[in-house]
Order: sequence, then C-alpha cells, then structure tokens
Amino acid sequence: MARLRLVYNCSECGASHPKWSGRCSACGAWNTLVEDVEDPNAPDIASLAAGLALVPAATAQRIGEVDTSHAAPRSTGIDELDRVLGGGLVPGSVTLLGGEPGIGKSTLLLQTLAAWPGRTLYVSAEESAQQVRMRAERLGAVRPDLWLLAETVLPHVMKAMDEIEPELVIIDSIQTMVDPELGSAPGSVVQVRGCAHKLVMEAKRRNLPVILVGHVTKEGGLAGPRVLEHVVDTVLQFEGERHHALRLLRASKHRFGPTTELGLFEMVEHGLRGVPDPSALFLADRQTGIAGSVVIPTLEGQRPLMVELQVLTSAVKSDTPPRRSVQGLDPTRLSMLLAVLSQRLRQPVSQHDVYASVVGGVKITEPGSDLGLCLAVLSALGHQPMRPDVVAFGEVGLGGEVRQVSHVSRRLAETARLGFGTAIVPAKSPDVDVDIKVVRVNSVREAMKALGMSGKADG
Ligand code: TYD
Ligand code: MG
Repeated sequence: MARLRLVYNCSECGASHPKWSGRCSACGAWNTLVEDVEDPNAPDIASLAAGLALVPAATAQRIGEVDTSHAAPRSTGIDELDRVLGGGLVPGSVTLLGGEPGIGKSTLLLQTLAAWPGRTLYVSAEESAQQVRMRAERLGAVRPDLWLLAETVLPHVMKAMDEIEPELVIIDSIQTMVDPELGSAPGSVVQVRGCAHKLVMEAKRRNLPVILVGHVTKEGGLAGPRVLEHVVDTVLQFEGERHHALRLLRASKHRFGPTTELGLFEMVEHGLRGVPDPSALFLADRQTGIAGSVVIPTLEGQRPLMVELQVLTSAVKSDTPPRRSVQGLDPTRLSMLLAVLSQRLRQPVSQHDVYASVVGGVKITEPGSDLGLCLAVLSALGHQPMRPDVVAFGEVGLGGEVRQVSHVSRRLAETARLGFGTAIVPAKSPDVDVDIKVVRVNSVREAMKALGMSGKADG
C-alpha cells in the first residue's frame, strides 16, 4: 500500500507541485502554494466523476431543438439578488457566493431560504444548529419549510438531501466540507475542489439550485474560491466596508445572464435590507455650502449611482512631502489628477495635503469621476463651495482635457430624477432629452469658468 505523500497545491489555480516554491509554475502567482497531504489510495476526481455519472450519456441534437423551458430562472423573493442573477436561480445551477468573513453571506442566504417558496435546506458547516436558529429568529426566518443540518461530512449531506428532497440547498461554507474519500486535510485545495465537483454533479442530477459559500481573505490566501470559479455556473461577490452598512452584490461570472448588474443592501438590526434607491441614501446626509464637496453621477455596472465626493486640503508648512489620503477612490488616479491640476492649471497642490473620500462606503473605479474630483480639489483649495444643484462627470486626460464617458443618458436621467438642475459634461457627449441644463466643456479650465471658480493661484 502506497504511503501518504506531501504535496504543494496552488490556491489560485489548483496545480499540484512536488516541492514548495515561491511561485506557481503553472499560473505564475506568487506565494500561493500551500502544503497538502495526498493519499495515493484515494480515488482521483476523474474516477469519482465517472463513478457518479449514472446519468445517461448525452445525445447530440439540433441547436434549435434544445428545450430551454426548464432553464428559466426562478425568483428568489429577494429583489436585489434577483436583479444580479437576471431574474432568479436557474434549476440545476450552482452559484458560489464569495466574500470576506463577517460581510453578511450567511445572513443573506438565510433570508433567501426564508423567502423561497418551497422546501429548502441550509447546511451549516461552521455554526451549530442553535447558533443558526438564533440568527434565524432575529431575521424572522424560522419557517416550517426551512430545514437545517449542522454537518461537515459530504456523504451525510447527500443523504440528508435524499431524505428531505429540498428545492434549494445552501452549503455554508464549501471550505469546511470534507469528503473522507478524498484523503486530504479539510480546507485543502483537493477537498474544496473535490466536494464542489460532487455537489455540482448532484445539482445537475436533481435539477436543484445550490449555493456554495466561499470565504476569501483580503490577501485571497484561503484555498477555495479561485479554484472553484471554473467548476460553478455563477460567481457572486459580496462586498462592503466593514464599518459601513452598505453591501454590494455583483456577479463576476454568470452562465445565465450578464455580469453588469449590481445589487445593493443595507445591513440593519434585522438583517439585510434591499436598497432600491441608493442615490437617495448616499445623498441623505449631504450638507450644502461646504467647499470641497461635489456630487457626481457615477455608474456601477449598469446601475447609476449619485454619490458625493469630498476633498479637504490643508497647506503644508515644512519641507515634508504632502500627504495624499483616499477612501473609495484609486490613489494613483488622484495623484495623476493632482499632477494635471499642478502642471496644466498652475494650482499649488504640491504644497497641500489632500484628503479625498467618497461618502457612504462606495468604491469608485470608473474614470467618469475624474472631472468631479478635480472640481472638488479646486473648490477645497479656493474655499469656494460648488452650487448645490450642480453635478459633473467626465474623464480627465493628462492635458487637462475632458473626455467622453459611457452611459451619458443614464447619468443625466439620474441627475434629473434627483432634482439637480445643472450637469457639467464632456463636450462631445451625445444629445440627451432631459429637463436640466447641460453644460458642455472641453477642459477642466472650461468647467471652472462655467462654474465661476477661481481655484488658487500658484504661490
Ligand atoms: P454573517 O452573515 O455572519 O457574515 P458571513 O457569513 O459573511 O461571515 O454576518 C455577520 C455580521 O453581520 C455580524 O458582524 C453582525 C452583522 N449582522 C447584523 O448587523 N444584523 C443582523 O441581523 C445579522 C444577522 C448580522
Ligand atoms: Mg457565515
């Protein structure tokens, strides 16, 4: 009988190496190899798959004859989740829900089970049944059709599925599932991938939607989500700042629809609450008449969001280099824009500390926020508040020119809906029929002129 063997598996791509190395030779990722024990007697995944493939062999057919009626998504009862999934969960589909510990994955899924019209099974491989019940009580999710199984051993879970015959199954989390047949440590790449494979086959065989929870750490170090992405149909990411109530849900892979939709939730005392009107939420605490504050219509996927940018500048006296601090913005983008303001508009940014943040815990990655950010810096430097009914968007180039951005009509429609009167937009933007004043500008300088802003002379 062969002995157990020590191997090193890449937590990014799952490749197996006989020796440890700083870099995975298969995918090139650094510091991703983790120690694992391999049992040569354990059946490999391929043979397990073959053994489980009791389903009859597929037959080829004309593409037009493929029946799609049973692949229609079924609403989950949670609007913001349905939005991201393009209507709901498709029978037989496997969805991976990733996110940092404590972000609210278990909460979201318990609420989903409670809202599902039919029998459901929650497999808790991390928390005891008592813990889950207590949380469910807080969420109002204690329902006769919701079955709970605190179990980590996969074959036992399969058996429970036979007995209960649920219409939706949640595995929380896939990292804590173990299959004794796989002969590797719990949480190892081999286990996580092997268990996921089996669950995928089970989902297809039963035509049952399954959601797997996967933890990711800030460093992405844990075995799991990366290697699972290939196995599942849909990958959802649950994100947010721990100290903010806002949670964002988006799809990074979706075999049944687009990945551009964004779901928004707010973590409140009784669980997660959908946020159908995020712009109103972000602007709720806004105070007008403060220098350095600018409202921008930005886009998250397809969803327009009206957010407030705030900038504070403070003159540095000594020779120490000025500080740059950002929250919710790309720091290199801010540095670039400050260089443009310094070189093209002669603004004394190099003698000022600059603090920039997006209010409400959102992260902005699209270049459409450039013009708004420049105007916020200019407003702060000149101690000159922006007019409260003005918004601005546009990409700023290295020459200080304002460039076109996508989805102009959506941004302007959101601007009008929230009662703003004027939008500063790139000169080449398409014509949009909205009931607000649209000011077209070619450069940051033109935008300043249109707003009567002076900034601060170099000195
Ligand atoms: P949880 O769903 O356990 O996160 P995950 O499964 O992603 O690890 O959520 C944990 C956090 O959510 C916890 O810190 C407390 C908070 N929370 C609320 O604020 N309200 C609630 O009703 C619940 C259930 C949790
Ligand atoms: Mg959890």
